[in-house]
Amino acid sequence: MGSRRVLVTGCSSGIGLAVAVRLAKDETKRFKVVATMRDLEKRGPLEKAAGDLLNKTLVIQKLDACCEESIKECINSIPNRQVDVLVNNAGIGMIGPLECQSITSMKELFEVNFFGLVRLVKEVLPDMKQRQSGHIVVMSSVMGIQGLLFNDIYSASKFAVEGFCESLAVQAMKFNIKTTLVEPGPVMTEFERKLYEDAEKTDLSETDEETARIFRDIYLPYSRKVFTTLGQTPEDVAEQTHKVITAKEPPLRHQTNRLYMPMTALKHADPTGRLPLEAFYKMIFKHDAVFNATLGILRMMNWRKGNK
Ligand SMILES: NC(=O)c1ccc[n+]([C@@H]2O[C@H](COP(=O)([O-])OP(=O)(O)OC[C@H]3O[C@@H](n4cnc5c(N)ncnc54)[C@H](OP(=O)(O)O)[C@@H]3O)[C@@H](O)[C@H]2O)c1
Repeated sequence: MGSRRVLVTGCSSGIGLAVAVRLAKDETKRFKVVATMRDLEKRGPLEKAAGDLLNKTLVIQKLDACCEESIKECINSIPNRQVDVLVNNAGIGMIGPLECQSITSMKELFEVNFFGLVRLVKEVLPDMKQRQSGHIVVMSSVMGIQGLLFNDIYSASKFAVEGFCESLAVQAMKFNIKTTLVEPGPVMTEFERKLYEDAEKTDLSETDEETARIFRDIYLPYSRKVFTTLGQTPEDVAEQTHKVITAKEPPLRHQTNRLYMPMTALKHADPTGRLPLEAFYKMIFKHDAVFNATLGILRMMNWRKGNK
C-alpha cells in the first residue's frame, strides 16, 4: 500500500507539532504529512523537530482555520487534492468567570474550535466521499464529554465538536470514511501557558467578589495542580494519535489519559447528571483534603508508571 497523505492543522506548537512529527517518523513510512500553521514565521520549532524529514515525509504549509480562502489554497496545492487523513487540531482555550468574558472573544473561540473544524471538513469531505475512503481525526477534549467550572465557553465549543462529529460519523461510514475524536485531559503545551497568562490578566471587576475569589483562590491553584499531576506530554498524545490512525478499526472516541477516566466515567454512570455534578461540587468546594489526597495518589501512580 502507498503512503497516505495526512493534513494536520495548528502545527506551530504543542500537540499538532508532535502529531505531525510522529506521523512523519512512522517506522514504515506510511505517511506524507502536510503540517500546517496560520503563521509561517512560527515554523522554527517544527523544522527543528522534523530535522531530516523536512521536505521528505513532512512539508510545511500555511493554513488559517478561520479563513476559507486559506484552506482552499492549501488543499488545492496538494496533488489531486488528496487528503487521506485530516487531523483537525487547531484550537484555543478560555477560562474565567462568564461575566468577565466578551461575546466577541467567545465568538472568536468558536470560529477556531468549532467553525474551523466545519470549514476543514466541508473542504475535504466531498473528495473523501468520491474516493470512498478517508479518516477525519479531531482533537477534542475530555471537556467535550464533561463540562468543568470556569471553562463554560471552551467546553461548549468542544461539546459542539463532539455533536458535529457524532452526527457526521454515521453518514461518513456509508462512504467508508472513519471518524475519530481524540479526547486528551490536561496536556502541557503553550495552551496551558497562554491560558494562565490570560487568566492573570483577567479583569475580575466585572464579577462579584465571591466568584472572583473562587476563580483566583480556588480554581486557579487547583487547576495548576491538576495540570502538574495529571498532565500528559504532547508526544504522549501524538503517540496515541498515531495508534488511532494506524488502527484497522479506529474508534469513534479515544481518551488519551487513563488517570482522567474516572471523572468522565461519572457522567455515564448517572443519566440524571447528579453524580458528576455533586462529585465536582464536593471535590472543589467541600473536600479540599480529599481533593489533595486524590491528586497525591494519582501523582504517585504517574511517578510509578514513569519509572517502570
Ligand atoms: N493542552 C491541553 O491541555 C489540551 C487538552 C485537551 C485538548 N486540547 C486541544 O488540543 C488542540 C491543540 O492544543 P495544544 O495544547 O497543542 O495548544 P497550542 O500549543 O496552543 O497549539 C494550538 C495550535 O492551534 C493553532 N491555531 C490557533 N488558531 C488557529 C487558526 N485560526 N488557524 C490555524 N491554527 C490555529 C495555534 O497557532 P498559533 O501559534 O499561530 O496561535 C497552535 O499551532 C486544541 O484543539 C486544544 O483544544 C488541548
